[in-house]
Amino acid sequence: MKASEFDKFAEEYLATHKGNIAITGEDPEYFARYKIETVAARLKALGLPAPKRVLDFGCGIGNSAPHLRAAFPDAGIVGLDVSEKSLAVARQRFPGVADFRRYEGGADMPLEPGFDLAFSACVFHHIEAAEHVALFAALKAQLAPGGVLAVFEHNPLNPVSRYIVATCPFDEDAVLIRAGEFARRQRRAGFGRVDVAYTGFFPGPLKALRPLERAMTWLPLGAQYYTLARA
Ligand SMILES: C[S@@+](CC[C@H](N)C(=O)[O-])C[C@H]1O[C@@H](n2cnc3c(N)ncnc32)[C@H](O)[C@@H]1O
Repeated sequence: MKASEFDKFAEEYLATHKGNIAITGEDPEYFARYKIETVAARLKALGLPAPKRVLDFGCGIGNSAPHLRAAFPDAGIVGLDVSEKSLAVARQRFPGVADFRRYEGGADMPLEPGFDLAFSACVFHHIEAAEHVALFAALKAQLAPGGVLAVFEHNPLNPVSRYIVATCPFDEDAVLIRAGEFARRQRRAGFGRVDVAYTGFFPGPLKALRPLERAMTWLPLGAQYYTLARA
């Protein structure tokens, strides 16, 4: 996808996304929140202090920003994206919540290194595979020593995820990536250890079963997965 492709979808992104994922019985708010809550819980379980600086790589219209703010009230949050129109929507929706910045894409990021957490949700399937290792290396360079990279992606092994992506107007270019391959690319970028966890097993009508998901992260059938890597 061209760097600015998401400009086309910025205004109607939320409504399109909402309609597209209706099959899951949840709304965009739920999906944005669970990712941040999952990462916050993992950082806590690792005994790490709350991050003071957080990067939301590919922040789009800012869906994660209020949840990052709620989870890490004292953190400085920077959202980075290639789509100026998406960033304009983000700034309008969440004034003062994060510093939403545009860049041209690629490994040269207009940032000051020292992030304790670099987070990214559903961005890499829009970026050419050949760029991934260099981007992960660039994100690693932005982390403080011991900082964490947490990246969420759709799981191509889950048929509902494949259906949602196949029917989503802004996923026309999407190339889904298996978790094992995604983690390998991060190791190639210099991350020593990369953990993979699967999430999103139960749709809205079965939400009572979701506490079980904590014991199912090894099962490669969840709708999404995330990788956790330490600098
Ligand atoms: C599906 S949207 C996800 C937005 C946001 N992370 C969320 O969860 O709502 C993908 C985003 O990735 C951005 N993107 C695409 N290529 C990028 C790149 N090379 N660097 C940074 N962001 C990029 C797009 O502009 C778009 O905002």
